[in-house]
Amino acid sequence: MFFVGIYLDNAATTRVDERVLEAMKPYFTKEFGNPSSLHGFGRAAHEVLEQSRTKIASKIGAHPFEIIFTSGGTESNNLAIKGIAYAQKDKGKHIITTRIEHPSILNPIRWLVKQGYDATYLDVDEYGLVSPDLVAHEIRKDTILVTVGHANNEVGTIQDIEDLGKICSEKKVAFHTDACQSFTKEKIDVTEQHLDLVTLNSHKIHGPKGVGALYVKMGTKIEAVEHGGGHEKRMRSGTENIPSIVGFATASEILGEKEIQYMKNLRDKLISEIQKNIVETKLNGHPTKRLCNNANISFKGVEGESLMLRLDAKGIACSTASACSSKNLEPSYVLTAMGMPVEDTHGALRMVVSHENTKDEITYVVGTLVEEVGKLRAISPIWRG
Ligand SMILES: Cc1ncc(COP(=O)(O)O)c(C=O)c1O
Repeated sequence: MFFVGIYLDNAATTRVDERVLEAMKPYFTKEFGNPSSLHGFGRAAHEVLEQSRTKIASKIGAHPFEIIFTSGGTESNNLAIKGIAYAQKDKGKHIITTRIEHPSILNPIRWLVKQGYDATYLDVDEYGLVSPDLVAHEIRKDTILVTVGHANNEVGTIQDIEDLGKICSEKKVAFHTDACQSFTKEKIDVTEQHLDLVTLNSHKIHGPKGVGALYVKMGTKIEAVEHGGGHEKRMRSGTENIPSIVGFATASEILGEKEIQYMKNLRDKLISEIQKNIVETKLNGHPTKRLCNNANISFKGVEGESLMLRLDAKGIACSTASACSSKNLEPSYVLTAMGMPVEDTHGALRMVVSHENTKDEITYVVGTLVEEVGKLRAISPIWRG
């Protein structure tokens, strides 16, 4: 089945760019060597692997040696958290994170807590921001890791990772940030921002799914969680996925200033036209410290799931919470942590644009929202319009 419509779910995943696909193609059938092999096929694969590593490293001011290719954001987050936990358990077993992290952060930590580790889940403010002072206050002698996502996948709030990194560096605690949503959209400079570990992935930036990377600062005490042939400097065994790595590296060069500004304009048009044409809406997340493509809006008196399905029927794809949890009807833990009443969390819709969307699409989306929100409010038992 092919679905044609307006795609506003670019935080869940993005369309693979044609340039990415073209760059990947030769590595399936012509240049298919294993980079660990010593013959010509292997050497060619090794060369393109290292070129891709250099490209990714350059995007975050890292040394190529500090980039470990993985199968994506989930694996990178697991490697960062469990890898530090195993390697530094003699120093301590305390990990600090926030209540609004992606499940691929929260669940490895929960698993470690079952193994005897201790975790602190920091509160955030009404915009989803974590206070650097709070982080400083919670760091203890036995703290081994602070992990705070750069940009939240639901509401798009951008944390001040430079302040957080500085605090952790002064206190000599490893600082990890999950940058899956911000990579190539926001500045990441591992030196200036004092970052020890950074998670990146490819399918949020118009690259293929199933590939990502973990930046690990040289000298960081970390252990592998996957053991085998010793690939990726013994940090992640398994033959490297060369076509996808090439696609990932190509994708990392798609977004420039022009595309980012274009997305900001589309996002602002979407937000302002919704606010102008529909009463009782609320923008969730920070008004300015937010991703260039994220609009998360609550519609009072409306059930987000129903609205999302009605939009789907009109060819518009968006989501009610993160894609990972949109198949259950639990209130969003991100919005709840930001202090939103449970009944309001159910009315939230996440619309995330890409540089491939058009102004006409946004106009159509707003018109459809006006119609569908009106219909739902007319039958809503909680809407007293
Ligand atoms: C912030 C964040 N971290 C991690 C992930 C997981 O990445 P992947 O799908 O590559 O495993 C996602 C994707 O949903 C995400 O948005």
